[in-house]
Amino acid sequence: MATTQTSQGILADSQSDTREHIIELLTKAYWMEVETVMSYIANSINPDGVRAQEIIESLETDIQEELGHARQYGERIKELYGVVPGSLDFQAEQSYLQPPDDQVDIVHVIKGVIEAETGAIDYYNQIIEFCEGKDPVTQDMVTAILHDEEGHRRLFEGFLREYQSEGLA
Ligand SMILES: [Fe+2]
Ligand SMILES: [Fe+2]
Repeated sequence: MATTQTSQGILADSQSDTREHIIELLTKAYWMEVETVMSYIANSINPDGVRAQEIIESLETDIQEELGHARQYGERIKELYGVVPGSLDFQAEQSYLQPPDDQVDIVHVIKGVIEAETGAIDYYNQIIEFCEGKDPVTQDMVTAILHDEEGHRRLFEGFLREYQSEGLA
């Protein structure tokens, strides 16, 4: 028979260590989303050229989705009794999404986006795996976010394919 403790699942007192670890995972995911928003804003403004327009529009849509992901991660941190960190804790990592030397270099942007999405996909799969049997709510939330990131990567892989078929990437 389940005790009161176990019926509280991840919110049980006895689960505090597991909760702490999940909060750490979610905090890193939160920062990844925030940095992606920054990178996608810059890369949706900087590019020049007719062909850049499709990329700009896609990134503008993605910015809203990544912002929504950051919010979801923050809200889940709070639900697990954590605190969403302040900006002074932020450390940038997306070297591959810095503005290219030449602002018509769309391939650089496309490859950077694919790298960011791939990093998110790898990391979110790790969170999903860790949550197995421990925290079904976080697991479901991250699974839904993972679905979005897979869609983002697939879209930009399609853009890259077009450049590759023309020998431009
Ligand atoms: Fe995201
Ligand atoms: Fe994404």
